[in-house]
Amino acid sequence: MPKLLMAIASLNVPPSVPRSRITGVAGRIFVAGAVTATMAVVGTAASAAPARTMPATMKANITRDLFGTLDDGTKVWRYTITNRHIRTRILTYGGIVQTIEVPDRRGHFTNVALGFATLADYVANNNPGPYFGALIGRYANRIAKGTFTLDGVTYHLPINNDPNSLHGGIDSFDKKVWTPTPGKNHDGDPTLRLDLTSPDGDQGYPGTLHATATYTVTGDSIRIDYRATTDKATIVNLTNHSYFNLAGEGTGDIYGHLMQINANRTTPVDSTLIPTGQIVPVAGTPLDFTKPVAIGDRIRDNFEQLVFGRGYDHNWVLNGSGFRLAARVTEPTSGRVLSMFTDQPGIQFYSGNFLDGTLYGTSGHQYRQGDGFALETQHFPDSPNHPNFPSTVLRPGNTFQTSTVYTFGTTH
Ligand code: BGC
Repeated sequence: MPKLLMAIASLNVPPSVPRSRITGVAGRIFVAGAVTATMAVVGTAASAAPARTMPATMKANITRDLFGTLDDGTKVWRYTITNRHIRTRILTYGGIVQTIEVPDRRGHFTNVALGFATLADYVANNNPGPYFGALIGRYANRIAKGTFTLDGVTYHLPINNDPNSLHGGIDSFDKKVWTPTPGKNHDGDPTLRLDLTSPDGDQGYPGTLHATATYTVTGDSIRIDYRATTDKATIVNLTNHSYFNLAGEGTGDIYGHLMQINANRTTPVDSTLIPTGQIVPVAGTPLDFTKPVAIGDRIRDNFEQLVFGRGYDHNWVLNGSGFRLAARVTEPTSGRVLSMFTDQPGIQFYSGNFLDGTLYGTSGHQYRQGDGFALETQHFPDSPNHPNFPSTVLRPGNTFQTSTVYTFGTTH
């Protein structure tokens, strides 16, 4: 069994789940098909037609089509990775996960990731905006007043979320065109590696940063491995900003989803959503998701943290360390279950509070407040300004490394 999945199996298998089921998932071997280039029309929308079930003989494969062309002539490719359990589409623009199609308890495939149909939509509306599916860098979430000091030097970042800097600034990683390398891992699972070099001083951050994100579709999971190196001391905090609606993208709000977060503590924020620096227990508050609770049950409680966030928009301090379960979300109607695993110290649960009905998604439906949730595995927001938070400093000679796994299952 691959090491990573072994870790999942040993740490997180509830006693009621027969180990053979887990072994079965982890042990499946897929032969990646040839990487083919199939050109399509510029600005193609995601196919909305769900398959019923994938044939048992289906081979995992990765293909690409031309998603669009930027004003400067740069081509944006869309890679589609398919195996028997998942079909996902990833763009070279911002490393965006455009769609994720997974089955419900009856085997019906539906896209559960929020996104846009065209490149023009992403360019115009994703940043500033919701950052649907995007790779976030150099620093996920906020840095207070866009300022931090490292080794005695104070750096200034763009203020793009007044009065703070959000998700790496204005021309951040979610807007860059990454260099793709499709391939397969040692188990034959299809992979897509994206590479980006961010020059010294990019968006105010020090050091030339080489970043990679490798997406692997393995069994019923999507795994993202991040790496970064620098030639000068800097800070880094990379994540992915996918939003989910496990009943199907564009089908309404996610308030009936049952959320469980493996965290006893959170980092409360001020009214500008910057952590105060405290680390407090969630017990007895609407932020307690140690047991599964419907997202909508307490979201409108008169609780200061929810008032500041207009709902959930907080960092939870994950229990334990090493690669472990971070969150599990169940959608009772479809039976779909998303389990997320990470080695990061925190996770941001954002309940789509700022979606306001002005955007229309991949299938043409309007997105309103609460129509998707994001779970962003990360270091805590504003860590460079809080010495008591785990460090996000990266120095030359060291490698930033983190992995997140999204596993899609169903309940009966
Ligand atoms: C932040 C939210 C923000 C959203 C979209 C989340 O990570 O915490 O405050 O609105 O991203 O940018």
